[in-house]
Amino acid sequence: MAKIEISNIAKSFPDVQGNELDVLVDVNLQIEAGEFLCLLGPSGCGKTTLMNLMAGFEQPTKGSLTIDGLPVSQPNPKHITIFQDYGLFPWRNVLGNVVFGLEAKGIKGKAAQVKAEEYLELVGLTNFAKSFPNQLSGGMKQRVAIARALAVEPDILFMDEPFAALDAFTRYRLQDEVLRIWQAKKPTIIFVTHDIDEAVYLAQRVVIMSPNPGRITRTIDIQLPRPCDRGEAGLSAYRQKVFREFELIHEDGTDYAI
Ligand SMILES: Nc1ncnc2c1ncn2[C@@H]1O[C@H](COP(=O)(O)OP(=O)(O)OP(=O)(O)O)[C@@H](O)[C@H]1O
Ligand SMILES: [Mg+2]
Repeated sequence: MAKIEISNIAKSFPDVQGNELDVLVDVNLQIEAGEFLCLLGPSGCGKTTLMNLMAGFEQPTKGSLTIDGLPVSQPNPKHITIFQDYGLFPWRNVLGNVVFGLEAKGIKGKAAQVKAEEYLELVGLTNFAKSFPNQLSGGMKQRVAIARALAVEPDILFMDEPFAALDAFTRYRLQDEVLRIWQAKKPTIIFVTHDIDEAVYLAQRVVIMSPNPGRITRTIDIQLPRPCDRGEAGLSAYRQKVFREFELIHEDGTDYAI
């Protein structure tokens, strides 16, 4: 059995008129323990909704979803989510925000502080440990959220476009840090993005989604060593393949052989 098993999931929400709107249909996906998987697709295709179902924040309208063989009915403290909007506590400073996640996991006092400082260094925010979220740029807030999530060394890490607000240099650096931590600790990572380059650079498997209604149209295995050189030919071949996929989105369901 796979770590995450999604079978024939559908999800609908009421629209403004109160009619049920199909947001996801016929979603089938198996995710193995330790896999790095990207959900890739345009705005509105249901990426966040699918991630929220896996993270236990929403319940499917139809179908079944299990993690470690158990139905997902609520968020699990071993599974950490990094949201699109950072989710920081404005009343805690940067260090306090990172410490909070550790305390929630039972790591207290000096041990929590040392670990929090280690992860703040990783995201380059050591000098801002005493700042409060409203004193930070959007990118810095997201780096705090990333440090807080990684510090607890989660079993599953759900990341919803975590780098979208960052400048390119910070984004590249954090992509490499996430890859390095993934290789060291092997959490299962579900990473939502609409950036094709990011998906191909990070993921072992890219799940391509399309909207109206949201569904999975293809999955592509990325067989490259990690981390790989950003200029490497294999990477651009996969990039081309994904670009082609978005043009051929309604074509037959077979995978490309590269
Ligand atoms: N709680 C909700 N109530 C009603 N409709 C919703 C709700 N959450 C999502 N939707 C609708 O579901 C669709 C998919 O939304 P979702 O946020 O999953 O897309 P997404 O792929 O994450 O998009 P983006 O890239 O813009 O973040 C959208 O049409 C959205 O309006
Ligand atoms: Mg989203």
